[in-house]
Amino acid sequence: MTYRNDPYDPKQVALLDPAALAEAVADATKAFTAAADPDALTALRPAHLGDRSPVSLARREIGALPPAAKSDAGKRVNEARRAIETAYADRAEVLEREQAERVLVEERVDVTLPFNRRPRGARHPLSVLMESISDLFVGMGYEVAEGPEVDLEWVNFDALNIPADHPARGLMDTFHIASADGSAGSGLVLRTHTSTVQTRTMLSRKPPIYVIVPGRVYRTDEIDATHSPVFHQAEGLVVDKGITMAHLRGTLDHFARAMFGPEAKTRWRPHYFPFTEPSAEFDVWFPEHRDGPQWVEWGGCGMVNPRVLRACGVDPEVYSGFAFGMGIDRTLMVRHGVSDIRHLFEGDVRFSRALSTGA
Ligand code: DAH
Repeated sequence: MTYRNDPYDPKQVALLDPAALAEAVADATKAFTAAADPDALTALRPAHLGDRSPVSLARREIGALPPAAKSDAGKRVNEARRAIETAYADRAEVLEREQAERVLVEERVDVTLPFNRRPRGARHPLSVLMESISDLFVGMGYEVAEGPEVDLEWVNFDALNIPADHPARGLMDTFHIASADGSAGSGLVLRTHTSTVQTRTMLSRKPPIYVIVPGRVYRTDEIDATHSPVFHQAEGLVVDKGITMAHLRGTLDHFARAMFGPEAKTRWRPHYFPFTEPSAEFDVWFPEHRDGPQWVEWGGCGMVNPRVLRACGVDPEVYSGFAFGMGIDRTLMVRHGVSDIRHLFEGDVRFSRALSTGA
């Protein structure tokens, strides 16, 4: 090893010899050319451009030269170093391009190949909507309740103040379940409304009662664009001390705004239901309706009939309550401008994908 202040020694400064420098350049260029990929090239860098490479060592020898020789020698070393760096950079560029081209070929994906992965499904928009209705009411302190879809006639009708000879029974086109031997009726029906869960809830627990019941119901309707033998309702039931129609209206207004937007207007019209007194039909004004702004019939509601409270073991002298049953399919159709209820039951995943977001 030699240092700047070492006396001039022609043997030691042999590295500064033009031939030696030319050889260093040639060696480096040859080695770089032989490198097969960018990693191999990088590994060669210390030997030809690092601290202990010939050009670096040559630069250190300059200090030992007589002053008159330094400038020339310095120029030669710099030129040699630059030549090696250029050779390195040129080779690096070539290798990187080659590698990129290789990756393109070797890792090519044939997008026309048949694929065997199952297409992604989507949650049904009705399920999503029923969940968001439940969430809304749970947020107001309600519990989610449910009941069987095959239920006793007594639960579906009698307990709700619809005795066997009541005209309202005939109005609800009911699927009756045959008895096992096919003779007389079994006393069971497919529930025609979620109001059955009013009966069951009052029979199984004491007030105060605050329940929301999203569920599937059945009627013998012919299938067309607006009718389906299967559809969905969201039933609400509140039984507590001092419950009035004002509570019912406030609750339904809140429900309507959550479903149809903060601008939703509501109205109710007097109506008759055997299980509520007084009863009303409840409409929502929907400005963005696909057929233009209009009132949409949303469902029925009223104050729970004292006869129903009594049939279910609740004292009407102490408690009062309200109930409502809103159409879920209709809610979805109005909100999303769906013109045909059959879309809800065909199971086309494209429909579900389009509607199940943002419910
Ligand atoms: N059950 C009724 C129907 O399916 C809707 C209904 C009306 C439910 C009034 C209620 C109510 O809870 O109070 O047509």
